Amino acid sequence: MTTKNTDRPASPEAATKLTMGIDPYERNWMRASVLLLVFFFGTVCIAGFAMGIQVIGADQEVDPRIVTESGPWAEPGVREIRPGEYEAYVIAQTWSFVPREIEVPVGSEVTIYVTSPDLQHGFKVTDTNINMMVVPGQVSKVTFTFDDVGEFPYICHEYCGRGHANMSGVVRVTDNAEDGASS
Ligand code: CUA
Repeated sequence: MTTKNTDRPASPEAATKLTMGIDPYERNWMRASVLLLVFFFGTVCIAGFAMGIQVIGADQEVDPRIVTESGPWAEPGVREIRPGEYEAYVIAQTWSFVPREIEVPVGSEVTIYVTSPDLQHGFKVTDTNINMMVVPGQVSKVTFTFDDVGEFPYICHEYCGRGHANMSGVVRVTDNAEDGASS
């Protein structure tokens, strides 16, 4: 067996021992696969521990059978919690959103909490990066600052039965002058 690589063992037996009989081409792919696993493990660790992206905890769990009977979801809607800061509690149910309208002045930071009392729904606000799955028993939460005046429809984007296409609502972002007049 002749080879250009001078650091290869001279005898074929020694070479087989050293490489465990694995073709160099295959060995390189094995190395690449292991590197990829290490890379993925690293990204999962960064997301979980450095960025705090974790599976939901007990504080974000609710009982879907009674969630609309008391607490914030008994009176769903949008509330101002501090100047310029709002929270909106939304129920996604078969087959409508409550409320169907969320109105905030432009520049508002809005934290939206969504839950479902029945089955799995979705909550996606058009022209924003708000896109959540809504699972019964869990609270989906997102914070977003609405910097543009306009109407941003929200829809259910998880197929949930024959009324799925009717599940929609709208975030109305008004200009500050209008807000000043109303408050
Ligand atoms: Cu709710 Cu689709």
